Amino acid sequence: MFKKDFPYFSNSDITYLDNGATTQKPKVVIDSQIDYYTKYCANTHRSNFGDANKATREFENARKILKEFINASKNEEIIFTKGVTESINFIASSFAVDFETVIISSLEHHSNVVPWHMQGRTIGKGLEVVKCDDRLNFDMEHFEELLKANPKAFVSITHISNAFGEIHDIKAITKLAHSYGAVVLVDGAQSLAHLKVDMQEFDCDFFAMSGHKTFAPTGVGAIYVKEQYLNELKPYQTGGATIHEVDFYGSTLLDSPYKFEAGTQNIAGVIGFGKAIEYLSHVGYANIETIENDVYKYLRNELEKLDGIIFYNDIDNCVGSLSFNFEGIVHDDIGILIDKMKIALRVGHHCAQPIMKQLGIKGTIRVSIAFYNNYKDVDNLINALKRALNMLRD
Ligand SMILES: Cc1ncc(COP(=O)(O)O)c(C=O)c1O
Repeated sequence: MFKKDFPYFSNSDITYLDNGATTQKPKVVIDSQIDYYTKYCANTHRSNFGDANKATREFENARKILKEFINASKNEEIIFTKGVTESINFIASSFAVDFETVIISSLEHHSNVVPWHMQGRTIGKGLEVVKCDDRLNFDMEHFEELLKANPKAFVSITHISNAFGEIHDIKAITKLAHSYGAVVLVDGAQSLAHLKVDMQEFDCDFFAMSGHKTFAPTGVGAIYVKEQYLNELKPYQTGGATIHEVDFYGSTLLDSPYKFEAGTQNIAGVIGFGKAIEYLSHVGYANIETIENDVYKYLRNELEKLDGIIFYNDIDNCVGSLSFNFEGIVHDDIGILIDKMKIALRVGHHCAQPIMKQLGIKGTIRVSIAFYNNYKDVDNLINALKRALNMLRD
């Protein structure tokens, strides 16, 4: 029903099921890029002529749209970045670096693992990992033990696993963490495309967002920083547009968010991010959740009928991504064959090697849906999988 809003689908006969990697872009977002580059291309927050002022207005309007969408308290709490990877690296290196212990979950993407390793943290040495059970559910009791043993830790946890679609109960995690004096960052890379997020309800201290996984252009994202941390948070890069006064004896920085947005920003990307969020609001989470729940359940039911399928978690607590394997079949072989049948999905470790290792597998076949996917996409996938399995089992 919504595919008509996305030019990709009228130009391509691919069944696109790789939304966990990146989403397609609606026409309004694509048009906003052409508009900026053809009608008012100018830098922001610098020059004072008409187009420059318009670019600044549109850029700041995107901040306001995002602030309202996630129910942050102030525009200043939204800082634009390149994406979730940059958002986490920013907070890791400028704020969390001084914390004795960082606690992550077993289901983290490499973007929320490698930055901690780069600080010399490994398990038991400044890094702790919350266990999950054999159906990949977050172990709250173990989390509490870790918090007790490491008061005032920095907790960095994904909201939704990109590899398995598992949803973490961020409200409960944050509440518990705060009761032990911990500070909480949430990796929201997979969140906005599927579920309503509310900063007042989550009460997390940092929330990392990805534009390209939310129907916006690539190379743009944001980090929400709770107001109380804006002053103590240090910029991790500085330069043009971050300063109030500079001479050869020193520099004074601007207030948030500008002191954190050094250099020329991804202006078109930010404007596009704002348009994508406006578009999402127009579609509405009521529609998104109804469609996705329906398609996800249908997908799971149809997959279950295939011989030898292995799932790693339960559907009840999942959204977006669904991962599986087939007994005796290498996931890469399925990937190669169904690509020829015009199905786009991802096979591999999905940048989540630690959990793959824990499960004793090299990777999975991952289908990741968005609200524009439908039963027909699932039928195309199932037919392709059946053909691929027949070829591989012959
Ligand atoms: C859970 C999760 N975290 C972080 C990232 C990295 O996001 P970005 O591409 O915006 O840097 C991804 C991308 O796949 C992800 O799924």
